[in-house]
Amino acid sequence: MGNLKVTMTDVNGETKTFDDVEEGISLMELAKQHGVAGIMGDCGGGCACATCHVYVNEDWFEKVGEPDDIEFAMLDMVADVMKDNSRLGCQIKMSPDLDGIEVTVAPASSY
Ligand code: FES
Repeated sequence: MGNLKVTMTDVNGETKTFDDVEEGISLMELAKQHGVAGIMGDCGGGCACATCHVYVNEDWFEKVGEPDDIEFAMLDMVADVMKDNSRLGCQIKMSPDLDGIEVTVAPASSY
């Protein structure tokens, strides 16, 4: 058990806050552990499926940073639902810097 805080709004608009999040866990893993709707994590965190797509709250996006080229290419596959603040949840690992982060689960792509 950690002590970092994450707030997630699932694909149905339901918001949950987790305040015992461990350092090092990815947002995809956290969402899977808690059954957050809309996060599938099909590829197991390999940056190869985009079923962990989240929108990072504007206030946090700068801290999280832009996706790298591989992640961007994956997000580009779901470009119909991609936004400027899109990231793959499996590529965001919790650290004290991200304590309090807020994200919203993106809807499934229609591609
Ligand atoms: S779990 Fe597949 S890209 Fe994140």
